[in-house]
Amino acid sequence: MAGKLDGRVAIITGAGSGIGRASARLFAAEGARVVCADFSGKETRTADEIGAAGVAVHVDVAVAADVERMVATAEDRFGKLDILFNNAGVAGPKMLLTEQTEQDFDRVVAVNLKGVFLGMKYGIQAILRNGGGSVINTASAAGLVGWRKNAVYGASKGGVIQMTKAAALDFAKQGVRINALCPGMTWTGMVPGSDDLLEPPADVPAPPQPMSRWGLPRELATAALFLASDDSSFVTGVALPVDGGYVV
Ligand code: NAI
Repeated sequence: MAGKLDGRVAIITGAGSGIGRASARLFAAEGARVVCADFSGKETRTADEIGAAGVAVHVDVAVAADVERMVATAEDRFGKLDILFNNAGVAGPKMLLTEQTEQDFDRVVAVNLKGVFLGMKYGIQAILRNGGGSVINTASAAGLVGWRKNAVYGASKGGVIQMTKAAALDFAKQGVRINALCPGMTWTGMVPGSDDLLEPPADVPAPPQPMSRWGLPRELATAALFLASDDSSFVTGVALPVDGGYVV
C-alpha cells in the first residue's frame, strides 16, 4: 500500500524522544526518509529504529552552524528536503516569572524560538531548492492560552505561532506550507518521571484536560503527519491544537 510520504525527505528535530521520536517512526512507516536530529544522543536510537530510512545528526537547534549542517545532511544523504518538523523544545523551570533567572529566559527562548527561526531560515532555503514542501513547528497550547508558572515558555511558544503565521504568508506562493502544532499535556520525556515511556502507567493521575487523560506521542505524530502530507495540501498558517480540548 502506498504511504502518505512515499519518496519524501524529512528532518525532525527533537527526534530522540517523545513526539519527535514517535513522528520519526510514523513518517518512516509512511515512506519518508528521515534525518533524526537531537542533542541528547538518543537521535541514534531513533535512527536505528527506522533502519535504512533514517540518519542521526547531533544538533543543538540553537546553534546556526549545527542547523546548517543538519539541513546539508538531508540534501547530501537523501538529495533534497521536503518536510521540516521543528519540534525540539525545552520546558524550562515551572515557576513564577519573578523567580526565573535571566539564564532560564535565554535558554528557553534560544531553543524554542531561535531554534525554530534557524530551522526555518536554513530549511526553507532547501525546501525552495526542491520546489516546495511543508514546515511544521511545534508550539504548545501554552502559546495559545496562559499556563500558570509558564510565562517564559508560553511567550516562546506564542512567538513560534506568530513566526509560523508570518512565514506562511511570505512563502505561500512558492509552495511552502508552514503550520504550527499545539500539543496539550502529552506523556513524553518532558514530563518529570515519564522516562520517555510511550504510554503513561495506569497509576499516574490525568492532567486537567477536558478529555481527562494525557496526550500520547503517537497522537501528536498523526497530526504532524497530516500537516506534513498532501492530506493538508490547502492548509497553511494554522496553529492546530491537539490537546484533548484544553484550549476550547
Ligand atoms: P521530549 O523531552 O520527550 O523531547 C524533546 C526533545 O528535544 C528531546 O529529545 C531533547 O533532547 C530535544 N532537545 C531539547 N533541546 C534541544 C536542542 N537545543 N537541540 C536539539 N534537540 C533538543 O518532549 P516532547 O514533549 O516530545 O517535546 C516536543 C515538543 O513538544 C517541544 O517543543 C515541547 O515544547 C512541545 N510540547 C510538549 C508538551 C508536553 O506536554 N509534552 C506540551 C506542549 C508542547
